[in-house]
Amino acid sequence: MTSQLLKSESSDHDTMYNKFIDIRYSFCQKLIDSSIFIQIKLIFNEKIHCKNYSIHINNWKAFSEFTDSLAPSNVFVLVDENTEKYCLLHLVENLHTEAQIIRIPSGEQNKTIQTCQHVWTRLMQHGADRHPLLIHLGGGVIGDLGGFCAATYMRGIRFIQVPTTLLSQVDASVGGKLGVDHMGFKNMVGLIQDPTAVFIFTEFLQTLPFEQMRSGYAELLKHGLIADKKAWENLSVKMDLKNLDFEELVYESVIIKKNVTEQDPYEKGLRKILNFGHTIGHAVESYWMDSSTPLLHGEAIAIGMVSEAFLSYRVGKISENDLFDIRTSIMRIYGHHPKYVKPSSDLIKIMRGDKKNISGNIRFALLESVGQACYDIQVQPEVIEESFVFYKEKI
Ligand SMILES: NC(=O)c1ccc[n+]([C@@H]2O[C@H](COP(=O)([O-])OP(=O)(O)OC[C@H]3O[C@@H](n4cnc5c(N)ncnc54)[C@H](O)[C@@H]3O)[C@@H](O)[C@H]2O)c1
Repeated sequence: MTSQLLKSESSDHDTMYNKFIDIRYSFCQKLIDSSIFIQIKLIFNEKIHCKNYSIHINNWKAFSEFTDSLAPSNVFVLVDENTEKYCLLHLVENLHTEAQIIRIPSGEQNKTIQTCQHVWTRLMQHGADRHPLLIHLGGGVIGDLGGFCAATYMRGIRFIQVPTTLLSQVDASVGGKLGVDHMGFKNMVGLIQDPTAVFIFTEFLQTLPFEQMRSGYAELLKHGLIADKKAWENLSVKMDLKNLDFEELVYESVIIKKNVTEQDPYEKGLRKILNFGHTIGHAVESYWMDSSTPLLHGEAIAIGMVSEAFLSYRVGKISENDLFDIRTSIMRIYGHHPKYVKPSSDLIKIMRGDKKNISGNIRFALLESVGQACYDIQVQPEVIEESFVFYKEKI
């Protein structure tokens, strides 16, 4: 099946804050392929409207006003040691009310039900009723876990995502997937529920370590490859990832994630295209997770995108030129790490256990062309092994 991406967004005339922004009216996929891309400069606040909530980019005034307007009984801010150190002060300065801080240790190993128990306990100890506000200040771990805690505490309280990593700004904070890992399996326990709002501040990226920045960049590249050829062409040639105009790049990427997830919130069809690079990428990430040389999520997804671009070529979808262009561009940013794509039999075993498969058949989201994706493509293990050989080849 092939994606048909309809993109749209609007602006809120009531909340103008005299700031020049780009509002891109992207139409459907075919129009993007035909390079019809209209940019209009307007003096509106930068705000992306979703069906049930809004995503605000770089607008502290809107953050203060919105949190005031909710009139919560209590405000809680969930942080880890890094977001407490680098981000909390600025957030608290923009809150007009006192907040209780809930601290959890950083890292995927803490995205567990035990950490949730700590959060629920702290909420109860501070007398949280059914009307507080939970603000999640952090990367995807804080957002996924905090969202799960909020969605289940007293059957659901309001929560705002304030993502502070590139990955969480363009990916994890949008689309409503919440949850924790269990028994070594990622995101085994969770649910899909929209936040009350998302506030993205790209200034938080300034303290993010380079490796984390590069890891998040993989999701921007993926969004380009599956839905926006021009974005891919723009992103894949960038040299200095630290000094980019992230406001614009994050905005464009969020729009792609929002449009896909809104059309298919429960991943019955179209949303599966977001898994491009992730079937092989997750297997590689899981296999090396407990080793002395684990990979960050985006580093594993980079390997997955090269290998799955090969599969897209091998099943007759993208051209050889496109395949080599994708491999060269991704390896220029992430390097070449052949040791991570073995042992292939173990990787294939992990893929068979992927919760997205049916009856052990391995299905992929692949590229239909650069900027367009398809999903539910079954590929035989021998062909998957060929993709590992392709990744391992010297370039
Ligand atoms: N819900 C979804 O749709 C979705 C999508 C993609 C990924 N995820 C999840 O997201 C998680 C990964 O997210 P992540 O990559 O943001 O990792 P993360 O949350 O572990 O953050 C990475 C590290 O950066 C630190 N950090 C965060 N913000 C910082 C800042 N501004 N300055 C300095 N350090 C900072 C954190 O403390 C942590 O050590 C995974 O659990 C993954 O499953 C969820």
